[in-house]
Amino acid sequence: MRMHGTMKINSKGHLEIGGCDVVDLAQEFGTPLYIIDEALIRENCRKYYQAFTGKNQSDLVIYAGKAFLVMAMCRIIEEEGLGLDVVSGGELYIAFQAGFPPEKIFFHGNNKSPAELRFALEKGVGRIVVDNFYELEVLRKIAEDGGYSPSILLRVAPGIEAHSHEYIRTGQIDSKFGFTLANGDALRAVEIALASDNLNLTGLHCHIGSQILELGAFGHAARVMMEFLQELREKTGWVAAELDLGGGLGIYYVEGDDPPSVDDYAGVIRESVEKAAAEFGYPRPRIIVEPGRSIAGPAGTTIYTIGSMKDIPGVRKYVAVDGGMTDNPRPALYKARYEGLVANKADQPAQEVVSITGRCCESGDMLIWDLSVPHVEPGDILAISCTGAYTYSMSSNYNWLPRPAVVLVNNGQAELIVARETYDDLVHKQILPERFSKGCRW
Ligand code: LLP
Repeated sequence: MRMHGTMKINSKGHLEIGGCDVVDLAQEFGTPLYIIDEALIRENCRKYYQAFTGKNQSDLVIYAGKAFLVMAMCRIIEEEGLGLDVVSGGELYIAFQAGFPPEKIFFHGNNKSPAELRFALEKGVGRIVVDNFYELEVLRKIAEDGGYSPSILLRVAPGIEAHSHEYIRTGQIDSKFGFTLANGDALRAVEIALASDNLNLTGLHCHIGSQILELGAFGHAARVMMEFLQELREKTGWVAAELDLGGGLGIYYVEGDDPPSVDDYAGVIRESVEKAAAEFGYPRPRIIVEPGRSIAGPAGTTIYTIGSMKDIPGVRKYVAVDGGMTDNPRPALYKARYEGLVANKADQPAQEVVSITGRCCESGDMLIWDLSVPHVEPGDILAISCTGAYTYSMSSNYNWLPRPAVVLVNNGQAELIVARETYDDLVHKQILPERFSKGCRW
């Protein structure tokens, strides 16, 4: 397993993150456990901040909360000077509970409810990223009724296919997201927004996909959007102040993944926008980007306790851990691949090849196929790296497994930022109607 951030192997031969021995963390907080390397989160935020805002004061980086959003994360994001992209009333609520400044929040989503939109307007959210004609009308009406003049971006589907897993491509024409550029919908949406007295159209948005490892797609998207802005100026006279190019920069998960640096990513985007702006004599818009995975992903590690094993000689050895698709559905959903390490035997040579399976009642509940490990025994602690993004945020209670705890580690300190769910949490929202009542039998 490649070492990320503050990871190292300590003198006991154990994996250490943020100065904390992972085996001790397992003891103290139990497993499964998400461990977040605060220094690496901050380093990733700073790389983005410096590559965009640091180079051009008006450019803005907003963290995509869908990757991993808890209140402590909101505080870190704010401290690092980033804004926040949220996609639901729930994410919005968490941000507010953490005291995140509303004006630095961008509200996304392809089917925001009227109640969510009202909530966002009441709170003074910075931008509503409008996805479709229905939302445009609902928002206009809510703004009119409430006397609000929200600043909005329109999400455009520019029709770009980025090389990524098919399920997480969002910019192509056959997509549920955004106003289609090719068929004139995007132009029509701009005209409607411009004609609405109480909607302040500040710019356009697009997002071409996630876990993108080649920069060409980003430069291309920026170019296509600039060409569209130029066309809009010719047709409507409107000049956009902002161009939000979404997120999508990929990260290293396994050998062979070779992600570009944030600096190179920023360079390609800036160059593409500025070149087009110069060519068209278009005022350079403020560039906004929305990274999620590349900030949170590499900073998260999940640890599990190894339990049962099933050796099928000549076929495969299954090694089961105490979590699985409930805390990380990505392998089951996307065939995502991860690296792992036996944290209490981190200095020992590989002796066998095993496959790591979860504890859910599904054959598809696999975490890693064919992992080389030292001789493993029940009670060993398995660490899986780069699980900071789209794991906790996509976790479930399938098979009624309580969700794991989340700890933030830094300089030898470990702080709980999400407590482990209990069995009581599992029944907390359930209602046993009076006529069934028997109460607890144990
Ligand atoms: N902005 C918008 C509008 C998005 O839809 C997304 C991700 C992002 C920003 C952040 O993209 P990132 O920098 O994280 O690539 N669950 C999938 C990923 C879905 C991404 C959805 N949108 C996964 O686990 O791979």
